[in-house]
Amino acid sequence: MVTVQHPDSQQGGRSRCLGRPTTIASLATYVPPRLLTNKDLEQLVDTTDEWILQRTGIRERHIVDPGVATSDLGKEAALKAIDAAGLKPTDIGLIVVGTVTPDMMFPSTACLLQHKIGATNAWGFDLSAACSAFTYSLTAASQIVASGGVEHALVVGADVMSSIIDYKDRSTCVLFGDGAGACVVSATTDSGAGILDYEHEIDGSGGPALCMPAGGSARPPSHDTVDQRLHYVKQDGQTVFKFAVRKTEEISRRLLERNGLTPDDLTLFVSHQANRRIIMSATERLGVPPEKVIINIERFGNTTAATIPLALNDAVESGRLKKGDLVLLASVGAGFTVGSVLVRWGF
Ligand code: ACO
Repeated sequence: MVTVQHPDSQQGGRSRCLGRPTTIASLATYVPPRLLTNKDLEQLVDTTDEWILQRTGIRERHIVDPGVATSDLGKEAALKAIDAAGLKPTDIGLIVVGTVTPDMMFPSTACLLQHKIGATNAWGFDLSAACSAFTYSLTAASQIVASGGVEHALVVGADVMSSIIDYKDRSTCVLFGDGAGACVVSATTDSGAGILDYEHEIDGSGGPALCMPAGGSARPPSHDTVDQRLHYVKQDGQTVFKFAVRKTEEISRRLLERNGLTPDDLTLFVSHQANRRIIMSATERLGVPPEKVIINIERFGNTTAATIPLALNDAVESGRLKKGDLVLLASVGAGFTVGSVLVRWGF
């Protein structure tokens, strides 16, 4: 692996980031207005508000109305993010949409979104990494900007999880919600901001623990797959839980150490929001104090690709994240996928 010294990397650390510096120039989010509360779920499956809150930390989640697709949520967040960056859609050169719920198998949601927002000078693609989709998309877009390929990239993490959730399965339906986040990644000459480094892994042996079994080329849709409810999320919760705690800590520690940093150097740790207990266990092992950890799962549930931008947005709006702060993003998702990105906040 060829690495270069990033100008902002501390104490002789070495970053994987190649090329010119990049930064997150803006961020925006969108959730559909309709709420699905724990009390509502008590009417659908054998569960209680108390169980859901205690085991997951979730109180409510936002759910789309019928006919609202991932690109619709992405559009709302994308237009706000582009405007907040002081740009027009035609300034965007690349669109990366991280999602596990594309509007359809093809065309890509990036194509549909490009058309909806009028980003007529952009190319783009979808990125499938489940709950790591935002960290992966941020890295992919950042490195394309860093290479000089484009000046401004739009990164969107958006999912309509309610479209693939079985509201008869209490072990999964309480966990997920719908939402979108978008950020503009731009080249920068500001030495006080930047996407500093990243670390990612996949482990395909974890596939059966969290998947949607049918609808792809292995098991195309049929009456049988519908009858067997195979077009919904299936999860071995405990296997995913243990892997998520272990890997969130491991990949975050590796990224910090490579950059000569400790949790003390961080202003904030922003994890994928799958379960409050996963975040608390992983950060306790890592040695990040609770006051540096953002948890907003109680209001949104697990929105898959959108959780990290939704958490970042809360941090910015509440004044907990400001320009120049050092923030570590971390995610574990279906696949398994694992990601971590180190950012000096750009605005
Ligand atoms: N309400 C009431 N009881 C329930 C519910 C519910 N909604 N769901 C499960 N239970 C029951 C189970 O049936 C079980 O009962 P039993 O003991 O009689 O058999 C009991 O509660 C305990 O079940 P567990 O599965 O052991 O519960 P656990 O404490 O592990 O919590 C959970 C389950 C919340 C799913 C947890 O395992 C988890 O969060 N896993 C990780 C989820 C995750 O990180 N997903 C990854 C991201 S998703 C993506 O990438 C798309």
